[in-house]
Amino acid sequence: MDLAPEETTSVYESLRISGPTDNADDPNTSITQPPKTKVNRRLQIALVLVGIMCAALVAIVVWSLAFTQKENSDKLNHEFESLVSANNGSNDINECMNNPCARGATCRNNHGGFDCDCLPGFTGKLCQLEISECSSRPCQNGGTCVDMVNSYRCLCSVGYLGTNCQERDPCRSSPCQNGATCRNQNDTYSCSCPFGYTGRICETMSNHCLSKPCRNGAHCENTLESFRCSCSSGFQGTLCENDINECMSKPCVRGATCINNHGGFDCDCPPGFTGKLCQLEISECSSRPCQNGGTCVDMVNSYRCLCSAGYYGTNCQGNQCRSQPCQNGATCRSYANTYSCSCRTGYSGRDCESAFLQRNLYRIVGININGKYGGRVEVKHNGVWGTVCDDYWNNTDAKVFCKSLNLPHSNAVAVQSAYFGQGTGDIWLDDVLCTGSEPNIASCKHAGWANENCGHHEDAGVLCF
Ligand SMILES: *[C@@H]1O[C@H](CO)[C@@H](O)[C@H](O)[C@H]1NC(C)=O
Ligand SMILES: *[C@@H]1O[C@H](CO)[C@@H](O)[C@H](O)[C@H]1NC(C)=O
Ligand SMILES: *[C@@H]1O[C@H](CO)[C@@H](O)[C@H](O)[C@H]1NC(C)=O
Repeated sequence: MDLAPEETTSVYESLRISGPTDNADDPNTSITQPPKTKVNRRLQIALVLVGIMCAALVAIVVWSLAFTQKENSDKLNHEFESLVSANNGSNDINECMNNPCARGATCRNNHGGFDCDCLPGFTGKLCQLEISECSSRPCQNGGTCVDMVNSYRCLCSVGYLGTNCQERDPCRSSPCQNGATCRNQNDTYSCSCPFGYTGRICETMSNHCLSKPCRNGAHCENTLESFRCSCSSGFQGTLCENDINECMSKPCVRGATCINNHGGFDCDCPPGFTGKLCQLEISECSSRPCQNGGTCVDMVNSYRCLCSAGYYGTNCQGNQCRSQPCQNGATCRSYANTYSCSCRTGYSGRDCESAFLQRNLYRIVGININGKYGGRVEVKHNGVWGTVCDDYWNNTDAKVFCKSLNLPHSNAVAVQSAYFGQGTGDIWLDDVLCTGSEPNIASCKHAGWANENCGHHEDAGVLCF
């Protein structure tokens, strides 16, 4: 494979050119071997050259010696003049006596004259001329040079700075925002931000709320120079740090106790009231406590049930009438632990069981169960009702009595010993002995009006069937 044929060839060729060669046809070969007749001439030329070189060397040495001698003589001459001048001073005018030098230069008298040693920045014989440092135009980029004593100042064009206005002013493009001051720092700049701004070029409004200065849940509003706290209700102060005592204004009503707390207040309501300010009366009726159709009447911290007929109890839950104790069509009204019966006309007694059937001078005071009467026997005499004693009182007497009141009487039964309760007042009749055909018991045989030896515990009674 032929990796680098051209380069290799080139090197080879150069070797061929500089190296020895066997080629007898090469024209250079004949030049390197001159003929013998030319050797003598070359030798002559060499000898002449050597002669010239020797002559030049001799000349240089001679000149060098002469120069050294002259320098030495000048030096001697100068020293000599100084000596003479010292001996000869009395006759030399001291020009410095007149202070000829200007601009504060130092005057130096010398032989036949004087010299002014100028302060920096001045020149001229008397130092009267100011050197213009601006003449070299040191201010670059259009800067104006102001010449000063021994110095200058460049008034740079906008955008340049430095002693020679050689630097570009990085603040030239006014990179700082929001009125910030731009300062150049070497080849960059820095912005000195006004209060309220931050960021490299003062582009960002400072967030004064970052430190969470507002307290008690207040909202912090950032402003250019500071921040503002919008307080949650119940707090005040610049930072909303103060808890308002809401109880000062006595907000609770109905005699409630106000309790100030963190950010608000609570009203400790008296029983029966509710609401933030205890302004609402609790409706104890809202839970509908009255049962069985009872009407609820709301009261402060309580209620009362007006029960429907037949019910009783705080919530009308009780019903003493359930067993239907009232008789003869009476209306039953239930109360706690009891009931009452409203009797129909002609009836009395706790359960309206007392039938009071009267006909002329006779009446029965007792009960009527399904139309069957039973009761105490009473007789009217001299306008006054009285009872009958049970001595000899038997079923024949009972039949006469029941028949006299137009009551069923075929199976009438006589009862003794105040079976239907004791009467009061007179005992009009005793020892009644009926045959069964009499119209009433007063017509039967008896001991005579009010002639008796009884007590009311012996009051006679009947059951009429
Ligand atoms: C000394 O003073 C005389 C006359 O004042 C002057 O001619 C002479 O040159 C002075 N010598 C030197 C060496 O300056
Ligand atoms: C500016 O450059 C000088 C020299 O290079 C250095 O000493 C100095 O700290 C630099 N200033 C700033 C602010 O980088
Ligand atoms: C009631 O007594 C009378 C008189 O003693 C008597 O004649 C009559 O038979 C008696 N009646 C009954 C039902 O016992």
